Amino acid sequence: MAEAPAFAGRRILITGAGTGIGAVTARHLAAHGARVAVLDRDGGAARTTAEALNGNGLAFTGDVTDPAACDGVLAAMESAWGGVDGLVNNAGTWDHGALLDLTPERWQRVLDVNLMAPIAFANAAVRRMGEGGAIVNVSSVMGQVAAPGRGPYCVSKAALIALTRLQAVEWAGRGIRVNAIAPGYIGNETTQGLADAGSFDLAVIERRTPMGRLGSEDEVARGIAWLLDAAQSGYVTGHVLEVNGGWTAYGYV
Ligand SMILES: NC(=O)c1ccc[n+]([C@@H]2O[C@H](COP(=O)([O-])OP(=O)(O)OC[C@H]3O[C@@H](n4cnc5c(N)ncnc54)[C@H](O)[C@@H]3O)[C@@H](O)[C@H]2O)c1
Repeated sequence: MAEAPAFAGRRILITGAGTGIGAVTARHLAAHGARVAVLDRDGGAARTTAEALNGNGLAFTGDVTDPAACDGVLAAMESAWGGVDGLVNNAGTWDHGALLDLTPERWQRVLDVNLMAPIAFANAAVRRMGEGGAIVNVSSVMGQVAAPGRGPYCVSKAALIALTRLQAVEWAGRGIRVNAIAPGYIGNETTQGLADAGSFDLAVIERRTPMGRLGSEDEVARGIAWLLDAAQSGYVTGHVLEVNGGWTAYGYV
């Protein structure tokens, strides 16, 4: 007898899934049976992602910092699909600048998107999730190391890891697992755009990475899927899955 697809019947919300890692994750989960709610502040991109999911996608336009967007998506998932089983807090933003130049407002904007929104989405989702629910917070290698000039991003992604551990231990009794994924440098449009703008040098990054290359969006999506799938990672919670080609393991010159 053929095995049921890993995510058959699972209802999963992915924030920031209009493009990039979130969109690839949506396609991967739907290809394995999931129904996926795609939220993005870019409504056109959200629709493009959702329409490629063969009838198993719903698109929502909204900013993750807007409580109405959060409530609206979860209420719509409830009426369309009867609830929510999984959440991927993927939407992220950054602001580059030296610590002495950054204003409190610039810090706040990054913290609102990368930390406060995942808190709000997880709280709202967990109130509606049953036993077996799973959450993945998309952190970054920058949440594990210090990169000069990237203060709000590093701090918000480090806090997201701390939040993941707290959520994992507070919600274990509800049968809900919470994990983080920490991608290294992923070769996508965003990374290329930052390189083109002179934010970093991709050749230097490749040389600094033990595996000698950037990661792919698909490699991150597969990590997220593994963390969401109780058949694969049912005893894993509060974990940070590093998908970085060995970046954090490397400590030589
Ligand atoms: N690309 C990398 O190398 C890399 C590395 C480590 C971690 N990450 C993290 O992975 C996640 C996805 O990154 P990506 O490279 O796919 O980026 P991306 O820019 O390709 O995609 C992010 C998506 O989120 C949406 N978004 C951003 N802010 C939003 C908001 N406030 N409300 C709603 N939607 C919003 C954007 O419209 C976009 O569609 C982010 O959290 C990022 O920090 C990326």
